[in-house]
Amino acid sequence: MERYTEKDLIRIREEYGRRLEERKKRKIEPGKKYILTCGGTSCLSIGGEKSTYELFKKVVAEKGIEDVEVINVGCMRMCSEGPLVALYPGGVLYTRVKDEETVRTIVDALKEDNPYIDEDHHYKDPLTGEVIHHMWEIPFFKYQESIILGRVGLIDPTSIEEYIGAGGYFGLLRALRMTPQEVIEEIYNSGLRGRGGAGFPTGLKWKFARQAQGEPKYVIANGDEGDPGAYMNRAEMEGDPFALIEGLTIAGYAVGASKGYIYTRAEYPLAAELVEHAIQVAKEKGLLGQNILGTDFSFDIEVFKGAGAFVCGEETALIASIEGKAGRPRPRPPFPAQKGLWGRPTVINNVETLMNVALIMERGAEWFKGIGTQKSTGTKVFALAGSLNVSGLVEVPLGTPIKVLVEDIARGAPQGHTLKAVQMGGPSGGCVPIEHFDVGIDYESLRSVGAIMGSGGVIALDESSCMVDVAKFFIEFTKNESCGQCTPCRDGLVEMYDILTRITEGKGKREDVEKLEKLATVVKNTSLCGLGQTAPGPVLSTLTYFKDEYMEHVENKRCPAKVCLPLIEYYILPYACKGCTICAKNCPVNAISGDPGKLHTIDPEVCIKCGTCMAVCPFDAVVKKDAYEERGELYERSQH
Ligand SMILES: Cc1cc2nc3c(=O)[nH]c(=O)nc-3n(C[C@H](O)[C@H](O)[C@H](O)COP(=O)(O)O)c2cc1C
Repeated sequence: MERYTEKDLIRIREEYGRRLEERKKRKIEPGKKYILTCGGTSCLSIGGEKSTYELFKKVVAEKGIEDVEVINVGCMRMCSEGPLVALYPGGVLYTRVKDEETVRTIVDALKEDNPYIDEDHHYKDPLTGEVIHHMWEIPFFKYQESIILGRVGLIDPTSIEEYIGAGGYFGLLRALRMTPQEVIEEIYNSGLRGRGGAGFPTGLKWKFARQAQGEPKYVIANGDEGDPGAYMNRAEMEGDPFALIEGLTIAGYAVGASKGYIYTRAEYPLAAELVEHAIQVAKEKGLLGQNILGTDFSFDIEVFKGAGAFVCGEETALIASIEGKAGRPRPRPPFPAQKGLWGRPTVINNVETLMNVALIMERGAEWFKGIGTQKSTGTKVFALAGSLNVSGLVEVPLGTPIKVLVEDIARGAPQGHTLKAVQMGGPSGGCVPIEHFDVGIDYESLRSVGAIMGSGGVIALDESSCMVDVAKFFIEFTKNESCGQCTPCRDGLVEMYDILTRITEGKGKREDVEKLEKLATVVKNTSLCGLGQTAPGPVLSTLTYFKDEYMEHVENKRCPAKVCLPLIEYYILPYACKGCTICAKNCPVNAISGDPGKLHTIDPEVCIKCGTCMAVCPFDAVVKKDAYEERGELYERSQH
C-alpha cells in the first residue's frame, strides 16, 4: 500500500496535470484522442441497454485504434441533449449518442481528424438554428463559470491521480500546515455560505462547533437532496467524489472531529458507490485514516444511506436517522454544533458547501471572494428544468440574474410557449414572475421577491402551467413528507391542500382564497422545523403574483391555463366536424357519438377529459370550452 507524501502529491500533480492540459486543448490536433463519455445518472438513464462508455470501448477495440482513450466521466450537464460524449483535444460535443451506429460513425470520423458528424448529433441552437460543434462556443456552457463543476465531466471520478492532477488534495495539504483556528478563519474570510438552503456562514458554524464542549466531535456531509427536480449534489458526488472527501476531511480537521459521515439516499446508488470507492482509495493512499499525510491528524469517513424521506435532509432529522431513530426533527436550540450526533458537537454541511471548502483551501479566500457578490460569494450550481429549450446543470456566480439562466443559458421556452415564472428553491421555495427575471440570484435578492435559493432547483413555467395547480403540487409533496410531529405542519398542510383541491375543482369560494392566505401564514410562523416553516412558500408567492389566476378559478370557474381537469370541457365545433368518426373510435370511454359524415357530440357525463379526441381530430374540430366559445362566436359573426 503506497501512502502518499507531499512529494508524491507534487509529482502526481505535475504528471497528471500535464495530461489534463493536453486533453483540454481547444484545437483539434492529430495524435492521441480522448473520448469522454458522460457516466452521470441522467445520461445513463436515457441511453440504450449498453452505456455509451461500453459501446465506445467495444468499437474502439474492434477497430484496433490505439491512440484513442475512452474515459467515463461524470455529468456533462446539458442533460436534455444526452447521452453526451466529448472529444478532446478540441472539445467537440456529440449529443443523443444512444446507439452503436452513431458510436461507429464517431469513431470512424476520428480517424480522419475531422470529427464532425451529422447535424442530429451535435448541438443545434434552438434560437438561431446554428449547429455548434465545440463546447465552449455553445451558449449553455459559454455563460457558465465552473469551479465546483470544473472537474465534473472532465476527469475520471475513480482516479485519485486525475483528481490530484487537477489540483486536488492541495487544499488539505495547505490546511494541515495551518492551525485549525486559521483554517476556520480562512473559510470565514472567504464569505462561504451554506449551499443547503439557509445560507448560514460556514466559518461561523465551524467556530461554534470548535468551541463547543464535548468529545468526540462529528462532521456530516448532507447529500440527502430530496427536492423534486434537484440533482446537483448527485452529480457532484458522482463526478468529483474526492473533492467531497477532501472538503469533509478539512472540516474534520478544523472542528476537531475524527469521524465524518456522508449522508445520501438509497436512490443515489451510483453516487454512493463512487463515494465509497473514493473513500477506499483515499485510505489506501494515506489521505484518510491514521496520520493523514504523515501528520498527527487521523480521520475516517462512513457513507450512510437514508431511505429517502424529504424531512431527513433537515439537520436534526438527519442526525436522528443516523442514530437509528425515526427521521424526525427536534426543536433547536440546542443546535447540532453544540449537541448533535450522539449528543456531541456536530457540523452538518451540504455536499456543495464542502466541495467549495476544498477549493478555498487550495486557492485562498481572496480568490473566492472575487467571485459572486459582496454578501454572496462564490458560485452556485442549479438544476434547470421545466419549459426550457435546453435543460440540465448550470453553475454561475452568485448574483447572476435569473434571465441569464433561463434565456441565455437554457435558451428560453420552446417555440410557441411563453415563460411566465420560475419556481426556485424546491418545495419550500417560491415562484418568481417574469417581471422579476432581472433579479440576481443571491440569498438576499431572492428573499426580497418571495423566493429562496434553496438547494438549487429551478423549474421554468410557461402559459400552460396553472399557478394554483403548481402550488397544489408542492403542498401535496410537503403534506406527504411532513413527519406529522407538529400540528401546524401536519394538519395545516392537509387543510391547505383541501382548499387548493376545492379551488382547482371549481368548488372554491372567495373566502377560501382568504382562508388559504391566513392559514399559510400561520403554518409558516408556527411550525416546528424548516419543512413546515417554508412549505407555504409556493402558495404565498403565487398568491402575491398570480392572485388573478386564483380568482378566475373561484369567480368564473375557469382555469386560464386549461390545466385543472374538472374545469375543462371538450366540445366539437359544428362547422369544422366532418363526421370522420376518428374521435369516436379513439375515445377510451365511448363518450362520443354521431353517424358517419354527420356532426359528432361529446357526452360530458361520460367524458374523462383525457384529450385524446382533440389530439386525433384531423380537422381541429375538437376544442376546449374557451376556444369553443371564442371560435363559435367568430363563426356566428361570419355568418351574418
Ligand atoms: C425539510 C428540509 C429538508 C432539507 N434538505 C436538505 C438537503 O437535502 N440537503 C442539505 O444540504 N440541506 C437540507 N436542508 C437544510 C439542512 O437542515 C441544513 O441547514 C444544511 O444541511 C446545512 O448545510 P449548509 O450550511 O452547508 O447549507 C433541509 C432543511 C429542511 C427544513
